[in-house]
Amino acid sequence: MASLFFEPSTRTRLSFESAMLRLGGQVIGFSEAASSSAAKGESLSDTIRVVSRYADLLVMRHPKEGAALVASQASVVPVINAGDGGREHPTQTLTDLLTILSIKGEIKGLTVGCCGDLKYGRTVHSLVKNLSRLGVSFVFISPEELRIPDSLRAFLDENNLQYTETRHMEEAMPHLDVLYMTRVQRERFDSEQDYLRLKDMYILDANKLKSAKPDLCVLHPLPRVNEITPEVDDDPRAAYFEQARCGVFARMALLLMLSGVEPGLLPVQTQTTLSTNTIVCKNPRCITSVEPMLAHAFHPHNAETRTYRCAYCEGDVKGIEI
Ligand code: NCD
Repeated sequence: MASLFFEPSTRTRLSFESAMLRLGGQVIGFSEAASSSAAKGESLSDTIRVVSRYADLLVMRHPKEGAALVASQASVVPVINAGDGGREHPTQTLTDLLTILSIKGEIKGLTVGCCGDLKYGRTVHSLVKNLSRLGVSFVFISPEELRIPDSLRAFLDENNLQYTETRHMEEAMPHLDVLYMTRVQRERFDSEQDYLRLKDMYILDANKLKSAKPDLCVLHPLPRVNEITPEVDDDPRAAYFEQARCGVFARMALLLMLSGVEPGLLPVQTQTTLSTNTIVCKNPRCITSVEPMLAHAFHPHNAETRTYRCAYCEGDVKGIEI
């Protein structure tokens, strides 16, 4: 396994490495972009073309949205997305689902609260998309500025999924079966002042837990900054360190499936993609903004409004003719 971390990580990188070593495999890789040839200006596609010839599968984290898709197109071996900017973090979702299932016994019917930075928090994006297939309802707790992205809200609406949004944690607390706390994602903010204003908006402490259900399950993908006071760690409802432990098992299972030892992988669903350089994705967080050799690519999304969705970051471009 090659572990390619262009962005900081403790849990994801080390749990993947631990998983592979426990399975009897071996690991190569780097843990910061500065120690790879990205620092010399090598394109992501070229790095992946090369490293995929050194390993049987790749695990990659990258700060740009859609980087995982670029890697999967350039690689000759399977690529696991270990986080692509503020977009998705699917293996954290496997970890989260395993934790919820092992604690609650069943996922269907649960009310799941997601609290904090729901705009840039990639773990929430992946978790919500996956939980929404499993019959849960959501309560999204965030300030206006950090609400779930429009594309995720549209997905929930199109699929008639149940959710409410509030600014007030106290209001939501008594109704929740699972509370998924998140860190405000400082590194994705355009303005440090905005970050400072919003960073301590939600702090879960023993007092706030008084109104919660006795079997509430408190999760956090970690790292925490200020969102959960240390006193909560001793509450039996705090499950975030157990969640980190589940990360090793979830990743062991995924590695076994990808190496063909365990069955269960589903075929990838393909979508019509239009490669074009006549229209470009304007999202500065998209991988296309830093990879000049990469052709822009869009999926037709809404014929009426002539909306196209970037194949990499899923940002919409409206009112255009291709
Ligand atoms: C998360 C991430 O990297 O998105 N951490 C993790 O992988 N466990 C959450 C975060 O950084 O806030």
